Amino acid sequence: MKVVLTGAAGFIGSNLARQWVVEHPEDTVTVFDLLTYAGRRESLRELEALPNFRFVRGDVAERGDLDPVVADADLVVHLAAESHNDRAIADPRPFVRTNIVGTATLLESCRRHDVPRAHFVSTDEVFGSLELDDPRRFDESSPYRPRGPYSASKAAADHLVRAWQTTYGLPLTLSNCSNNFGPYQFPEKLIPLAITNLIRGRKVPLYGDGRYVRDWIDVGDHCRALELVARKGRPGVTYLISAETEVANLELVHRLLAIFGSGPDMIEHVADRPGHDRRYALDPRRLREEFGWAPAHTFDQALSETVRWYRAHPEWWEPLLPHVVGGAAR
Ligand SMILES: NC(=O)c1ccc[n+]([C@@H]2O[C@H](COP(=O)([O-])OP(=O)(O)OC[C@H]3O[C@@H](n4cnc5c(N)ncnc54)[C@H](O)[C@@H]3O)[C@@H](O)[C@H]2O)c1
Repeated sequence: MKVVLTGAAGFIGSNLARQWVVEHPEDTVTVFDLLTYAGRRESLRELEALPNFRFVRGDVAERGDLDPVVADADLVVHLAAESHNDRAIADPRPFVRTNIVGTATLLESCRRHDVPRAHFVSTDEVFGSLELDDPRRFDESSPYRPRGPYSASKAAADHLVRAWQTTYGLPLTLSNCSNNFGPYQFPEKLIPLAITNLIRGRKVPLYGDGRYVRDWIDVGDHCRALELVARKGRPGVTYLISAETEVANLELVHRLLAIFGSGPDMIEHVADRPGHDRRYALDPRRLREEFGWAPAHTFDQALSETVRWYRAHPEWWEPLLPHVVGGAAR
């Protein structure tokens, strides 16, 4: 099978590419990526020499870049996106271009070339924010209530996917996942930011009161779910992906401080982000029941492994530090 992974020089995509290329030598995997600040060939280095791996640099918003790659694909998994909330607040335009125009361009390319299957990767942030004491979690029928430029651009992309599926009968699936963490995540996101600061003996900046609850998942567990849904998901169906592990940012930072043997004096409280969502939580029942999927890692296990990876790979993250935007825990 010929598989195209867009945006797979980024965090989640590079983990998915590694899994796919190594575990399925019978498949040919093409990573299609523009290599923005967030995309890195270094994250794919161990794959470069393998015969079933190919890298193509290109822009998902450019038909001329996409068409030659999509033309003979059996399966496309779309991960390419602008993904950082602080960058979206500072300048939403690249989010509109890549996340909305890019998704529309890819949908049109899939339509022109009759691609047999395409899967679109999205986020829990499209559903908006829950109150801390709300017993509910979002499910596949929850209304879309995006509250920031990033989540609004992803929500728009999800609507396009459903519209192309309904209108043109394309064989498309969609998944919305909660907050990921693990190796190869750009060090401006909460967990790698905190880890790389602590490795360097610096304080961890924390937005507001830190009572912002996120539903955390190990990136490897997300990638397992993505492969299942991309291969076997029912066309037109959305799957929510979550390890059902809700942790407040303050608690998360305390767990990291414990791993490093540091005290609360290593936390630096900083002014809150505008429109900061309080809580995200997803119900992954459909994914569990249809595929028997379950996360293979506990949160604490995955957190310790992630710390180990960043400690062992300063050559990967140190050159990225000058490019970090934002820098407070989300
Ligand atoms: N990180 C999370 O916690 C999370 C959670 C749920 C969903 N998602 C979604 O998963 C996907 C991947 O997220 P990530 O965290 O790996 O993001 P990332 O920012 O690490 O990687 C994005 C990749 O897309 C590439 N890219 C950006 N613009 C492009 C363009 N115009 N054309 C081609 N490539 C382009 C970048 O070079 C980069 O390699 C995104 O769609 C994101 O919305 C992420």
